[in-house]
Order: sequence, then structure tokens, then C-alpha cells
Amino acid sequence: MARDILKTLKREHDVLRALFDEIKDTTDRAVKTRGELLEKIEASLIPHAKWEEQVFYPEFMERADRDGLQTHAEALAEHHAVETSVIPDVHAADPGTPEFAGRVKVFGEFIDHHAKEEEKTMFAMARKMFSAEELADLDERYENWKDSSAAQTLLVAEKVKAGLKGTVRSITR
Ligand SMILES: [Fe+2]
Ligand SMILES: [Fe+2]
Repeated sequence: MARDILKTLKREHDVLRALFDEIKDTTDRAVKTRGELLEKIEASLIPHAKWEEQVFYPEFMERADRDGLQTHAEALAEHHAVETSVIPDVHAADPGTPEFAGRVKVFGEFIDHHAKEEEKTMFAMARKMFSAEELADLDERYENWKDSSAAQTLLVAEKVKAGLKGTVRSITR
């Protein structure tokens, strides 16, 4: 099957949805599991979101009409809200509490909403803007980037920024 960045991004959305389903089913006593699942969520989400912001969204923007530009602005605003508010709120809660469960639920709902909009609107537009060759090329670039040390460094930096240090402390104490 030919490579296709839109299919790869959709598959990653599904992985995230499954992880959020898992963490939603944990109890307040499952502190260690919650910490591990949150780490997995961030390890999946951060490279995905950063690559969208740095490569896919700008390429999309270049080809977009007025509606496309609004869709792009909306997607970027949602990324910003998750990064600056939703994720820090999760980290500020103790994983053994209902506060954490509530905030993680909001985090999952936000991601599901955003992923749905991408799939239904942005990716549908992109399907018409990019040729099959371009979608295959983007997919290859994404895979190479994910394997690069630049991506790994970025992941660590973003995790620290999100306050994962605090979570690691609380699950190892
Ligand atoms: Fe996104
Ligand atoms: Fe996405």
C-alpha cells in the first residue's frame, strides 16, 4: 500500500483515543498506571503535534483558500490551548485524586474533538490539495523525522515544559 501521511496521522489519533480510553478506566488507586499511561499519551501526542505544527500545517496553509485558512487557525489554536492549559492542568493534579481523573477526561475529550475536526475537515481538504506523491513524500519525511535525534530532544524538552518532572516525582515516591 502506498504511503499516505493522512492515514498515518489518523492512525496515531486512534492510538491516542485507545490510550485515553485506558486511562479513563483507571481508579484513583492506580497511581503508577496513570503515570505510565500519561507518559505514553505524551510520547505519542507530542511528536505528532509538533510535526503537524512545523511541517504539515505550514504546507497546508500555503495551499489553503479562505476556509482552509480558518480551519488552520482553529487547529493551531486548539494545539495552543492543549499545550498551555490542558496539559499543565493535568500535571498540576495528583494522579491519585478525582481532580486528576477529571482533568485527564477533559484532556481526552479535547484531543478527540481536535482529531475529529482534523479528520473530517482539514484532512478532507488536504486530500484535494496534495497529490498522492506529495502525501507519500510527507509520510516518509515524518517517519524519518520521528527517528531523528532532533525529534527525541524536542520530546524531552516538551515533556519537561509540560511538567512531567512533577509526575515522575509523584509516581516514584
Ligand atoms: Fe493537530
Ligand atoms: Fe492530528
